[in-house]
Amino acid sequence: MHNLTCDSSTFTLLHCFLECVQRRRGSMYLEEETSKKSEMISCIFSLKEEVGALAKALRLFEEKGINLTHIESRPSRPNNDQYEFFINVDSTCSQALDEVIEGLRTQISGHVHELSRNKEKDTVPWFPNDIQDLDRFANQILSYGSELDADHPGFTDPVYRARRKEFADIAYNYRHGQVIPWVEYTEEERVTWGKVFKELKTLYPTHACREHNRVFPLLEKYCGYEQDNIPQLEDVSRFLQSCTGFRLRPVAGLLSSRDFLAGLAFRVFHSTQYIRHSSRPTYTPEPDICHELLGHVPLFADSSFAQFSQEIGLASLGAPDEYIEKLATVYWFTVEFGLCKQGSEIKAYGAGLLSSFGELQYCLTDKPKLLPFDPDKTSLQKYPITEYQPIYFIAESFEDAKEKVRKFAATIPRPFSVRYNPYTQSIEVLDNTQQLRNLADSINSKCHHLYSCNIIKKIKMLFLS
Ligand SMILES: [Fe+2]
Repeated sequence: MHNLTCDSSTFTLLHCFLECVQRRRGSMYLEEETSKKSEMISCIFSLKEEVGALAKALRLFEEKGINLTHIESRPSRPNNDQYEFFINVDSTCSQALDEVIEGLRTQISGHVHELSRNKEKDTVPWFPNDIQDLDRFANQILSYGSELDADHPGFTDPVYRARRKEFADIAYNYRHGQVIPWVEYTEEERVTWGKVFKELKTLYPTHACREHNRVFPLLEKYCGYEQDNIPQLEDVSRFLQSCTGFRLRPVAGLLSSRDFLAGLAFRVFHSTQYIRHSSRPTYTPEPDICHELLGHVPLFADSSFAQFSQEIGLASLGAPDEYIEKLATVYWFTVEFGLCKQGSEIKAYGAGLLSSFGELQYCLTDKPKLLPFDPDKTSLQKYPITEYQPIYFIAESFEDAKEKVRKFAATIPRPFSVRYNPYTQSIEVLDNTQQLRNLADSINSKCHHLYSCNIIKKIKMLFLS
């Protein structure tokens, strides 16, 4: 295999090709810009480094009578024990290539990514480019917020069901940039909130992470977090924007994992606005406003956690379905049910824990199994959704977890990287040298600013004085 290795800079052909790819608005897939390229099909496949692996792969092409018009190789960056091969074949071989790709995947356990064929499978799923694009999938919900299962505490309550529809309709009609409609909560709803708020607040000082405890008093001071008042999403969203740029967006029902995670890439959190049924204030079978405001919101006001959450979202953009599932699992074991080390102690930072009086106590007992957070392993862990978690993953810190997710994201087979531009609130797809140059210039300019303003020197003097 080493014989075929060439320097990664010889991937110029690939870069040229990628420069021809553009995002098509209104489509679910990336498509080629030029028809000329359709005369050939380009693929990248990766194989484990072992004797005979490439010969085996090439035999598949030979058996189907496919002539490779070009082949290049390089060590795989995300996987040290693998090699990547970039190939071109004539487009008349399209059908036979399908069988070869199938063979590569099933017989040789290779990863294949087609770059140039305008075919739905194997191409990059559509993802939002601008923050306004979130409007496009906001109503592609898996179930409307007023559709309750038969075992839901509010299933037989017509008043509760009608109320749920009101909330679902607010979210359904919401568009990016609008003020989130103010809601007059009923006395019954405020009582339910008050019970949850009072109980959880007694546990936070001892069970919640320090970031949650640092932000919570600010939410009480600025956002109306009180026992007898349910805060308004708009007030909370404005507060979050002033802290980390995160914002809330009302959601009409259950979004797919892909769509939900995409929101995080823009620092947008899709939030419910309704509250659980009053008959069971300590239980809810789905996220409600107690879960969002008490569990999620405090952490989104922390800059490290906000970056960590956005990293998961960025990793999901254009990722293949199997990786979306892995990222959703990482999200589950971190943003929802994460524990973290703080000094010699372990504290909760996951919203599913911080919004559940019972599980918040249970998670810090010796009953559950605790494992170190490692996205490669965490992403494969199965979990129950209707009972306390038997396993939790512990992050060393949000910074550490962010770096680990970033490394994990690099293993996702995408022919590009992405970066969020906060000035334009859009995603920059880094798939050609010019964009990388622009990024380097931007970093260079920021570093220059640091030095020219003597910021480091000033900070040092501040600590010395
Ligand atoms: Fe949640």
